[in-house]
Amino acid sequence: MEQYIIKGGKPLVGEVTISGYKNAALGIIAAAIMTDETVKIENVPDIRDIEILLNVIEELGAKVERVNKHTIKINGSKINTVIADSDYVRKIRGSYYLVGALLGKYREAQVALPGGCNIGSRPIDRHIKGFAALGADVKIEHGLICARADKLVGNSIYFDESSVGATINVMLAACMAEGQTIIENAAKEPHVVDVANFLNSMGANIKGAGTDVIRIKGVSKLHGSEYTIIPDQIEAGTFMFAAAASLGDVLVRNVIPKHLEAFTAKLLEVGVRVIEYDDAVRVIADKRPNSTQVKTLPYPGFLTDMQPMMTTLLTLSTGTSIVTESIFENRFKYVDELTKMGASIKVVESNTAIITGVERLTGAIVSASDLRGGAALVMAGLMAEGYTVVENVEYIERGYEDFERKMQKLGAAISKVDSKDTKAIKKFKLKVS
Ligand code: EPU
Repeated sequence: MEQYIIKGGKPLVGEVTISGYKNAALGIIAAAIMTDETVKIENVPDIRDIEILLNVIEELGAKVERVNKHTIKINGSKINTVIADSDYVRKIRGSYYLVGALLGKYREAQVALPGGCNIGSRPIDRHIKGFAALGADVKIEHGLICARADKLVGNSIYFDESSVGATINVMLAACMAEGQTIIENAAKEPHVVDVANFLNSMGANIKGAGTDVIRIKGVSKLHGSEYTIIPDQIEAGTFMFAAAASLGDVLVRNVIPKHLEAFTAKLLEVGVRVIEYDDAVRVIADKRPNSTQVKTLPYPGFLTDMQPMMTTLLTLSTGTSIVTESIFENRFKYVDELTKMGASIKVVESNTAIITGVERLTGAIVSASDLRGGAALVMAGLMAEGYTVVENVEYIERGYEDFERKMQKLGAAISKVDSKDTKAIKKFKLKVS
């Protein structure tokens, strides 16, 4: 099994370039099969979840050309089935976007229920409600989401709580429905906007993405396009918080600072310096953070995906902090691992972490149980005295491109080794001691 071994205590210093946004890329790749013409997509992150989705669309008959590490061409003209039921589909969350894409294009989809990180029950009732409002008959049968419509007709859809996934999925189907669809209380996250912009570049007619109300006028056909995916706000946030936690000085490049405002605000609040440029942010820290209170909320609030990094940063704060998770019910699993490193955190009612700052963390063997919690454990390893081993790195590689290489470039003492490769572990320890 592969694991990261980290020797903590070194500040991160230098520049890091952020990759394309995983969660936008998942929606955009699904959308790309909705036209029979070729679509060229740039700034695609080279990560496991994306490779899996590309495998899934190839299984459906789409042609995928990997032009280079970050550029792909997709042609959906030879799709020969609307059934996506392989193990690949079940491995990731984003495969559910194929329901909206196939339903919109072919009026039928049978897609295995999605997998993804175990951070809560993650129902898909809002997606189903949206497809049904467009006139589809939707059932869950034999572990598949089966959606079929003789006619897809635009409608008004009100989500009582916002959902990124349901907003994107309904937008996909609705852009090829007849007439107008209005999504109210739509999710406003940057990746909703990016998928909408991509669909518009293919000839869709979507207005209002990024606001509460999205209006979509259906078109009968979409065409080829060339598109560049936005930078990953979560990867950027992770490096911002890692820079702060390691008392470093890092220029995080290729970002949209507006998408990072909630993270910047919290970093400033705890005493970290953040300087914004047009497409970069510089994070400088030279002392333990102040304590604070944070609640995760839909965009533009503080993103749930950054909750583990916030909690981890606050383990070394000078007071008592409270972090409340309001989006997913099971997103504090990494906390048990942090306590092995000496953090003082109590989780109450499963959604609130009370963090009493300690003076130091100490390295330990810890295990990632989801993507963002795993990245936070690496961050803790950078902050801790001595050696930390983070097991189950495959979770982290699902969503972070070249994670340890980017960290190494900033001066982190981190290496990916096989847990049985004692020689490699020894070599790493000799090198960094
Ligand atoms: N929800 C429902 N019913 C639905 C859909 C959602 O009850 O039909 C609930 C969820 O259980 C959750 C809340 O609504 O409590 C919000 O869920 P949302 O649909 O917004 O999230 P998602 O589409 O499942 C995406 C990202 C997550 C990210 C969240 C929130 C993808 C593939 N996943 O999930 O990213 O945390 O939005 O921003 O885009 C990650 O990248 O590690 C990750 C988990």
